[in-house]
Amino acid sequence: MLQKHNVTFPVFESLKISKKKNTVCITDENVFEHYKRIFKDIDTIVLKSGEEYKTQETINTIIGQLIDFKTDKTTTLIGVGGGVVTDITGYVASVYMRGIKFGFVPTTLLAMVDASLGGKNGVNFGLHKNFIGTLNQPQFIVTDVKFLKTLPDLEWQNGFAEIIKHACIKDVAMFKQLQQNRIPFYKKNKEVLTDLLKQNSNLKLNIVVKDVNENGDRKLLNFGHTLGHAIETQYELSHGQAISIGMNFACKLSENILQFKDKNKVEELLQQYELPTSAAFDKNKVFSILKMDKKKQQNKMNFILLDKIGKAKVELLEMEEIETYL
Ligand SMILES: NC(=O)c1ccc[n+]([C@@H]2O[C@H](COP(=O)([O-])OP(=O)(O)OC[C@H]3O[C@@H](n4cnc5c(N)ncnc54)[C@H](O)[C@@H]3O)[C@@H](O)[C@H]2O)c1
Ligand SMILES: [Zn+2]
Repeated sequence: MLQKHNVTFPVFESLKISKKKNTVCITDENVFEHYKRIFKDIDTIVLKSGEEYKTQETINTIIGQLIDFKTDKTTTLIGVGGGVVTDITGYVASVYMRGIKFGFVPTTLLAMVDASLGGKNGVNFGLHKNFIGTLNQPQFIVTDVKFLKTLPDLEWQNGFAEIIKHACIKDVAMFKQLQQNRIPFYKKNKEVLTDLLKQNSNLKLNIVVKDVNENGDRKLLNFGHTLGHAIETQYELSHGQAISIGMNFACKLSENILQFKDKNKVEELLQQYELPTSAAFDKNKVFSILKMDKKKQQNKMNFILLDKIGKAKVELLEMEEIETYL
């Protein structure tokens, strides 16, 4: 059973607790460059950075390195990095010798509020995102906002896309708080930011604890992701930018189907956090990808819509209906 309290927010220095003999760290080249001192004296595997390395080949290379490090059942793997690193670490730890212990130190905003939480781990297979993987919980997650000092602006925007998603589906108070601020404010106010991270990890874990296998509320976390994934793989958009456009589209559907009244408020908030809300895309091409989505059932598909801000629901829509609004 997933423990809600395995997320801690300590000070940076406490990371030295991981400097035990029986630890292997996995990170990527950017994180390693910025934070070399953390990895001093620890067996560390440094991956190339980027989604294109989230593949089975990378897993095989890591397994070879783990064998070289004499990693066994008593070792704990620690993924220190963004969502690519945490997804890879959770997966490799789950299959190496049929499973060894693992923990995460997320270093991107997106990994702190989303990717490190919930137990979904895995890699891509060709164009199929997160196609191979496991559902397995880390022993611990250590989140420290100090890592964000070096985070590029685009990655702040990506993280806020998932934060706005959480507010839209479950938390109108958080939505109002976000309306009053902007990214530079959170960059400057570490305590307010830490509070926001705690709210977000609690929100996601509360959903996941009750619905590990995605039969109910966990589906709501896909808000903005159906169209988002379809355009992300085809156009040069980051994940946050793609789901921002996806959320705006889902709001348009919500307005037409559920008489949702606050489409403009969501659109304004996304723009306030430097995210795009529309893009010129080839409608036919995108619709043909949507038709291959895992959530499609014959000529219908489950879509996450908003009744109001803070209250999302799953609606089974006809594919033609979705196409009309594209
Ligand atoms: N498992 C899940 O439930 C889940 C949920 C959401 C997303 N994801 C996955 O997460 C991945 C996206 O995560 P991401 O946005 O963190 O991407 P990422 O891991 O690629 O990190 C983004 C970039 O930031 C760099 N970086 C990381 N930490 C840094 C720091 N502190 N300072 C400077 N640079 C830093 C990385 O090297 C990389 O270039 C995707 O593969 C997605 O599928 C998984
Ligand atoms: Zn996402």
